[in-house]
Amino acid sequence: MPDEIFQLLSAAQRQLDEGFAHLPANPAPPLGEAASTILQQVAARLHDNYPYAHPLYAGQMLKPPHPIARAAYALAMSVNPNNHALDGGRASSAMEIEAVAAIAKMFNWPQHLGHLSSGGTFANLEALWVAGQLGPGKAIAASDQAHYTHSRISSVLGLPFVTIPSDDRGRMDLPALEQLFETNEPANQIGTVVVTLGTTAIGSVDPLDQILILQKKHKFRIHVDAAYGGYFTLASNLSPETRAAFDAIPHADSLVIDPHKHGLQPYGCGCILFRDPAVGRLYKHDSPYTYFSSKDLHLGEISLECSRAGASAVALWATQQLLPYTPGGAFAQGLESSHAAAIELHRRLTESPHFLTPTAPPQLDIVFWAVNAPTPEASSALAQSIFDEAARRDLHLALAKLPTHLFLRDTWKKFIPSHNTVTCLRSVLMKPEHLLWLDHLWLRLEQAASQVSVVNSPIEPF
Ligand SMILES: Cc1ncc(COP(=O)(O)O)c(C=O)c1O
Repeated sequence: MPDEIFQLLSAAQRQLDEGFAHLPANPAPPLGEAASTILQQVAARLHDNYPYAHPLYAGQMLKPPHPIARAAYALAMSVNPNNHALDGGRASSAMEIEAVAAIAKMFNWPQHLGHLSSGGTFANLEALWVAGQLGPGKAIAASDQAHYTHSRISSVLGLPFVTIPSDDRGRMDLPALEQLFETNEPANQIGTVVVTLGTTAIGSVDPLDQILILQKKHKFRIHVDAAYGGYFTLASNLSPETRAAFDAIPHADSLVIDPHKHGLQPYGCGCILFRDPAVGRLYKHDSPYTYFSSKDLHLGEISLECSRAGASAVALWATQQLLPYTPGGAFAQGLESSHAAAIELHRRLTESPHFLTPTAPPQLDIVFWAVNAPTPEASSALAQSIFDEAARRDLHLALAKLPTHLFLRDTWKKFIPSHNTVTCLRSVLMKPEHLLWLDHLWLRLEQAASQVSVVNSPIEPF
């Protein structure tokens, strides 16, 4: 963290303390030498991590929080507000309402009911819980590329879950979805379709605009899981089909977005939005302990979770003040840069003899590729070796087991169905700096590929 932020933080801490200076002094006991030793140990223990904040870390979905988010979170810690009730977090609840309204505005939802949550899973749970309340016993449907927690959440809620196959680009397959409605079996009574804008493994974007056309014919709720991809709505360089899916968001019934993924926030920050504020009635409950201080809305009255870190709302609010969600603004440019980096990496991979790529360029900022080898099995083994070799060169990638149909390669068709998955290399280019660092990443990847002799074992060109 830059030194500047420590100076800003201590000035802001003094300002915060002044607000409580009229109270009798209650000094905290000194920490003593042990604390310094322990913190040194903590620092040493934390070396046992990949360098998530550095651009050479391009593996999983990990993006460092913005320094202002870290500082605002730390500042809020001296109050440690709880956003369940106004009694426990007055200022931070007000900041949460403003921060959530800024998210809703980004999606052109003038009317909404929503709040922050501990993360995307809990926010999705809440969306599907509301769906289950409105359509008891009706199934939840999601694509085979949707986040794995949707089927688990459905089982927790006692709702049937149906998996819809994805097409050769990892998007929900529309004919398969339509067929589901036409089979008319009671087990297939779909109450809600989960539409993922930014799938976890490959960043594919389900065609929300097309699914809305189906919704007119067969009535169902639409829940958009944009936990990963939601902020890309601000990017101006998406392909027309991806843009069409994002532009359809105002017609969805509920939406999840994770500020702790692309929103520059520390963990513990998801967000759920409902388009119809009337769903608030479903949360109605009595709490004899908490709601005393005001008749205004307590966030706990529209949330399944009870205690929640008010500091998350403070950090998000502060970040939004510095980097507002404005098309063309600095925050939007960061997302555009990530998408551009993914397109460029896909281009280089496609031209390389070492690798096999999907035919279509990435829809967001996640790139995946297989190693050019005669069989999926050989390809998978080489991917693991390249992953290890790259890590030795400080380039941290990820591995993902993906369906071979994503590659549309005739060569592998004869292995299907016995080898219908292949372990791929995968890179999440979440950091705006990834575009500038692409040459460094590419050099290390090529060195790693050469080291494991990929060049000597390619399949025939297609
Ligand atoms: C599309 C999608 N939905 C939901 C989740 C779960 O979110 P969380 O890890 O914040 O609980 C993820 C996590 O990667 C995701 O990518």
